[in-house]
Amino acid sequence: MHKVILAHRYHDDAVERLRREFRLVIADEEEGGLPECMRRHPDAEGLISFLSDPVDAAAIGAMKNLKIIANFAVGYNNIDVGRALERNVLVTHTPDVLTHATADLAMALVLAVARRLLEGDAFMRSGGFHGWQADLLLGKELSGAILGIVGMGRIGLATALRARAFGMKIVFYSRSPKPLIEKKHGFARVTFLELIRSADVVSLHLPYSPGVHHLFSHDVFALMKKDAIFINTARGPLMDEQALAAALEKNELFGAGLDVYEHEPAVNDTLRRLPNATLLPHLGSATGETRRQMALMTVQSVRQALAGKRPRHLIPEWKEKLKK
Ligand code: GLV
Repeated sequence: MHKVILAHRYHDDAVERLRREFRLVIADEEEGGLPECMRRHPDAEGLISFLSDPVDAAAIGAMKNLKIIANFAVGYNNIDVGRALERNVLVTHTPDVLTHATADLAMALVLAVARRLLEGDAFMRSGGFHGWQADLLLGKELSGAILGIVGMGRIGLATALRARAFGMKIVFYSRSPKPLIEKKHGFARVTFLELIRSADVVSLHLPYSPGVHHLFSHDVFALMKKDAIFINTARGPLMDEQALAAALEKNELFGAGLDVYEHEPAVNDTLRRLPNATLLPHLGSATGETRRQMALMTVQSVRQALAGKRPRHLIPEWKEKLKK
């Protein structure tokens, strides 16, 4: 039986299948967590990692029998992909199944910030509500506002389609042309600067790589409209969190809705006390059904790889390598 390491416990159905098919080691249940577990089981052939687990070059190099890393996430910036490709270790992720859940959450953040939901909730709980007022907690109108989608992949598109139902106008920035999306949905591809300057709401849907570290910097926040909303459900290091906190504190933006953080799980102290920041604990894909499907997808990937087959959900870098 092949030995497989699962970094943390997840959906029972998936754990049960793993136990039936493999010699399963759950790193969480061992002293020292995943790094120690990888050292203790260098003969493992499969690894199921979470987005919060760094799987670096040294770890990949040390596990001599490793054939597959199945990441329990669509993003895989926690893995040293270059080293995995070099060592012929397959890498898979969990695309598609989490698209709708994540787009729902992005839209929920847009609504929460625009209509100041958390401030309203805190106000009610504080006993401050003594009757209807004409100017109480005024928010921003979404109908007719421009939503700028940065990164028009699956989740970006699903978010845009939701926003369109709220009457928002959509523009997007993407490195590669998306003629089908422009034609089918009438969403306009614009330059990054055009988007930043014109959007009332900017929503990030890019994968993280060092090339886009701090794409949203002090200078970029300064170019945004003074009453714009910034939403990040992608990856924290795409933004300079301190610069964002400073812009929000000075009311240079209307508000921000964040599900991800630059130094996760830490959160900038200023952000934590600002009422115009809505903060969630990385919940993008967090519905029961989606997380179950993601977990089962990782089992399927490990099963396929260890049976010598090509896993269906290889990351794009691996698909590219196999084309050559
Ligand atoms: C969540 O952030 C994911 O990448 O799946």
